Amino acid sequence: MELVSSYPATEVAWIAPQPPHRRRVHRVTVLGSGSALPPRIVDNAYFVEQLGLDTTATWIEQRTGIRQRRHVESGVHVSELAAQAARQALDRAGLAAEQVDLIIVATSTPDYVMPSTACLVQQRLGAGRATAFDLCNGCAGFAYALDVAARYLATEFAHALVIGADLGSRLVNFADRSTCIFFGDGAGAVVLAGSGGGRILATRLCSSGDRESLLVPIGGVMTMDGRAIWNFATRVLPDTVRRLCRDAEVTVEQLKLLVPHQANRNILLAVADELGIPHDRVAVNIDRYGNTLAASIPIAFDEVLAQGRLQSGDLVALVGFGAGLAWGGVLLEL
Ligand code: ACO
Repeated sequence: MELVSSYPATEVAWIAPQPPHRRRVHRVTVLGSGSALPPRIVDNAYFVEQLGLDTTATWIEQRTGIRQRRHVESGVHVSELAAQAARQALDRAGLAAEQVDLIIVATSTPDYVMPSTACLVQQRLGAGRATAFDLCNGCAGFAYALDVAARYLATEFAHALVIGADLGSRLVNFADRSTCIFFGDGAGAVVLAGSGGGRILATRLCSSGDRESLLVPIGGVMTMDGRAIWNFATRVLPDTVRRLCRDAEVTVEQLKLLVPHQANRNILLAVADELGIPHDRVAVNIDRYGNTLAASIPIAFDEVLAQGRLQSGDLVALVGFGAGLAWGGVLLEL
């Protein structure tokens, strides 16, 4: 099905001139990854046939690239999905939970205001010696969490578990056709070591405070300015990839894969075209899982690793962007 790209690129005010980043190379090796998706599949027809919204499955697929997403049943907590993804990542890494020094959960849908979801995941895993905390920065949360973990691994810890987990279905008003169609639930996780052959060659984290474009009040539901998000994303995503490559002294062509936040398939394809990257070098799974906020990058990363699309020595850019506005990325040499 032909996908529609919406708006011409425009100049935006969000991106203040950024100082050149000092190049920091961290030894970080991905030992394993995992993901957890709830079993309940919600297709596009659900919004028309079950919810009676004034939309069509074709509209949704053409404007977003989404065919289906996963939603948890009521009563399921995000820490359950996060722990499930983490257990799979630990199994694949061959690491026991007791060997984990650090757990960071990037989420905007914690189980509770307190305790943190990371502490609950620590308990679920039996990772008794880990330092555990949450990081909340919308859909950029996982990229930020990777950077934080890399800095701890460079100084004091040996093993980190970095998790992105969100229940997008809990943030939307199911009577609002302009937001509820986008979001799904899920979790992804990586186990990182501060030793081995992998490296983080560059990181970029940026913020520009703005409540208007994307907002979820505490206890409320999401409002989104679709056009503003489109313009923001199509500007900062290619900019971040170019800056990461420049900082790492590599070319965009040398990237084996771009693993972006799965906001909207049309955004990802427009950005691939802008960067001159063939579409098959951009990880896209939004057709099956929708937009899972902070979970989307680690779920997509886990998928491409499981498919054998990345080998050691490959360069991969993981880039997130979203509410904040906040965006950023990490360039990994596996
Ligand atoms: N079905 C039918 N019509 C819809 C739907 C729907 N599900 N949702 C919105 N519309 C309508 C609006 O009500 C509006 O109608 P109106 O003109 O009568 O008021 C119209 O579509 C909007 O039209 P446009 O502004 O021209 O937008 P367009 O149709 O090109 O696309 C879209 C809207 C898909 C939201 C686009 O702006 C977009 O892709 N923006 C990016 C948003 C995004 O990707 N968000 C991801 C989540 S945020 C994140 O992860 C960072």
